[in-house]
Amino acid sequence: MKNMFVSDCYNVNEKGHLTISGCDTVELAEKYGTALYVMSEDEIRSVCRRYKSSFERHYNGNGTALYASKAFCCKEICRIVTEEGLDLDVVSGGELYTALAAGVDAKHIHFHGNNKTMQELCYALESGVGDIVVDNLNELHRIEKLSAEKGVVTSISMRIKPGIDAHTHEFIRTGQIDSKFGFALENGEAFEAVKEAVACENVELIGLHCHIGSQIFDKAPFVLAAQVMLKFYNKIHTELGKTLTHLNLGGGLKYKEADAAVPYEDYMSDVSEAVHAACKEYGIQVPYIYIEPGRSIVCEAGLTLYTVGDIKTIPNVRTYVAIDGGMYENPRYALYQSDYTCLIANKVNEPADFTATIAGKCCESGDLIQENTLIQKPEVGDILAVLSTGAYNYSMASNYNRNTRPPVVMVRGGESRVIIKGETYEDLVRNDV
Ligand code: LLP
Repeated sequence: MKNMFVSDCYNVNEKGHLTISGCDTVELAEKYGTALYVMSEDEIRSVCRRYKSSFERHYNGNGTALYASKAFCCKEICRIVTEEGLDLDVVSGGELYTALAAGVDAKHIHFHGNNKTMQELCYALESGVGDIVVDNLNELHRIEKLSAEKGVVTSISMRIKPGIDAHTHEFIRTGQIDSKFGFALENGEAFEAVKEAVACENVELIGLHCHIGSQIFDKAPFVLAAQVMLKFYNKIHTELGKTLTHLNLGGGLKYKEADAAVPYEDYMSDVSEAVHAACKEYGIQVPYIYIEPGRSIVCEAGLTLYTVGDIKTIPNVRTYVAIDGGMYENPRYALYQSDYTCLIANKVNEPADFTATIAGKCCESGDLIQENTLIQKPEVGDILAVLSTGAYNYSMASNYNRNTRPPVVMVRGGESRVIIKGETYEDLVRNDV
């Protein structure tokens, strides 16, 4: 039976409690305390497998998904996704360090970022990362110089702005060049940059990269991106005599909740068709394809548990339900007014007919997790669950108001274990002098 939630990892048990991967969330809250992040290993592995099988089914296995670790970077998640055969996309020395500390083979790590520091570039080169995605000419020159000094040839891809704006519900061909990332196609900047890269002795240009947005709900913009990028790929082949081998189409796919059944295992179907058609037309070999999903791999796998501490009803205005967390551990409503499903985890079977504004404990009015959302009638001491918090929550958390970041518990087949310890007050002053 299909359950009422967006993901199969959530369910309700005989006590009317919310479960995740077979664990009772109310028991998790008792055992580990709140606020608590919970991640489902089953769900993470399942999405990884679905992406992987999309390459096998539709593209002869000639590609790999890289997990965009910015969505949630920690050692255990790096281990899990690479065990599932994914590569990793990192965007900072810190993400690279985490991946290496998790034991990930550097060859399977791809280094991104629009302003990598010298220190980060040295670290990436010394670690032997798979490739560096070059954002600008200054960076290209730095990589060339560092590689020459170290006597190595560094594999690079170049980040291209393909002029496709894929925002949430729609995508448009904008030709827009106003982005801090990469080289623009429209004004010839990308072609000039590629020429320079090809002329460098200590870098080997292997491919092109683009990223057209986040929270993209269908595959069509990726098909267009593949077409635009292959046209440029072929121009490099015909005009510069340089044959590239890799094409990276970036991240961003995330089906809407209502479409949760749409399979990630089909990601490559339309893209593959478009790539094969273009390569046939140009008479070139099909490239090895990378994609970089972040959110879709971890988002539904996660939820956050809180204890309701106070309920403040302001007559004719609204009811604030205060929790023991807030914008310091989930800043996404404050930043983007992101939608979240909230529910009382110990009363899931009761009607969700109470309109609540979920308020955090930070000292500012904008510290809300959701406004005017329907939940079961709350009482002080209830466990409130916020679903789909696996992506860009822990990774964007802070110590605002000197709150400690909550622990992260991984669940799998009814078992739970801590994968990131909760911070202590000592942690807060560790670097204070
Ligand atoms: N590749 C590149 C180059 C990216 O910039 C991103 C996301 C991804 C891959 C992964 O995209 P995803 O599959 O996760 O959509 N903090 C925002 C999200 C920012 C995404 C930035 N780049 C949020 O909380 O919604």
